[in-house]
Amino acid sequence: MEPCIGSRFEELDSIDSTNLYAMQQIHAGKARPGDAFFAHAQVAGRGQRGKTWWSAAGQNIALSVVLDTTKLASSQRFRLVATMALGVLDWLQSIHPGDWKTKWPNDLYHDDRKAGGMLIENLQKGGRWTHAVVGIGINMNQHSFPGHLPNPVSIFMISRKRHRCADEARSICQFLDNRWKQLMEGGWTRILEDYNENLYGKDKICRIKKDSAVIPCLVKSVNEQGQLIAGENNEWAFEFGEVSWVV
Ligand code: BTN
Repeated sequence: MEPCIGSRFEELDSIDSTNLYAMQQIHAGKARPGDAFFAHAQVAGRGQRGKTWWSAAGQNIALSVVLDTTKLASSQRFRLVATMALGVLDWLQSIHPGDWKTKWPNDLYHDDRKAGGMLIENLQKGGRWTHAVVGIGINMNQHSFPGHLPNPVSIFMISRKRHRCADEARSICQFLDNRWKQLMEGGWTRILEDYNENLYGKDKICRIKKDSAVIPCLVKSVNEQGQLIAGENNEWAFEFGEVSWVV
């Protein structure tokens, strides 16, 4: 049986990026499925779409977990995205019950503000998807952010409570593990339903940017393949990467 996520938990003081470190551990044959890497500080944190992930040292969560993905087909990548996003959402609800949403595909929002995000990096061997590194960044105790970030928020700003980041990262691992087991035990249909129940912008008119056009459209759901379905008659099916949200 696969070890639980976080059963091996490495706490690092400072690192370039926990995702990079986890990937290096896999390549060196030193990482096992379920291994978790937490850093108090990242000096080259990586975000979505090649961006930098900004996070003040010692105040936030930077966590990467290694998963064995051999039981999933490459075409099922969104299953992993949705499962991990829900695991983080479950944990967020547990530390501060409230209006938490997943902003498609894998941002973590409180009301209209971003409290965290995920960067999932994949490894293929012989044409097969073998590993994923699930990187999770959560704004925990930080209370001011660089001005260029559009709408950040932290758990402290929402709850006025400070948390021990390493302890909370261990707790996230347990929530991820519950959802991962649900997926591995055939629970995908329920996971997709839960993802859609917690979908940011659902049943609202949102502005989506495609090429250089901004399209105001009614957000409906995310389908099995991970496409964002929008429009009164579900006339839009957006792929991640071809569109972005206009905040
Ligand atoms: C995003 O919203 O752009 C994704 C942010 C993901 C950040 C996390 S922090 C831990 C892991 N290590 C990284 O370098 N990135 C991810």
